[in-house]
Amino acid sequence: MDATDVDEDDLWCQLESEISSCTRCPLHQNRTHAVPGVGNRHADWMLVGEAPGEQEDLKGEPFVGRAGQLLTEMLRALGLERSQVFITNVLKCRPPGNRDPKPEEAAACEPFLIRQIALIQPRIIIAVGRIAAQNLLKTSTPLGRLRGKVHRYDDIPLVVIYHPAYLLRNPAAKRQAWEDLKFAWRIYLENRQGNHG
Ligand code: URA
Repeated sequence: MDATDVDEDDLWCQLESEISSCTRCPLHQNRTHAVPGVGNRHADWMLVGEAPGEQEDLKGEPFVGRAGQLLTEMLRALGLERSQVFITNVLKCRPPGNRDPKPEEAAACEPFLIRQIALIQPRIIIAVGRIAAQNLLKTSTPLGRLRGKVHRYDDIPLVVIYHPAYLLRNPAAKRQAWEDLKFAWRIYLENRQGNHG
């Protein structure tokens, strides 16, 4: 460990404590836990979902409910363990009844996500579902027109995939979801080779 690592640990510690004690929007009033994110702080792959649900709020960890289990399986099918990637959400606190995030909630939470991305510097960002995609890309384009393409978040390639909760309701879309993940893998490899020869 060198001085840079220590500084980085301090920055993470500061960020996570700010998230856990955040009162920037009313969602803090009903949270059990804020859910900053989990995984490898030097991950190549960063996955961004919508917001914590009930299980996530209880555990303080993203994607641990049924949808999360499916996401974990999908990653595994690609050869990725949760511990290798970093998983977080647009919102760090649960909206009541799992309703869609309000624009002002997403805006209040955005600086945390920006700081996480800056610290991790992932090689690819996966927007998990419509809400994540639309917030990250600042667009209202429907998910069907966002998937299957490479977008950019600053300079980082960004690929949009179906939300696993949608796949639980529409298992027929799993085949397309697998295509999207394989597409993301290809973009990741191309980008990695492009950067390092
Ligand atoms: N859905 C999300 O978008 N994020 C979670 O953490 C859990 C469910």
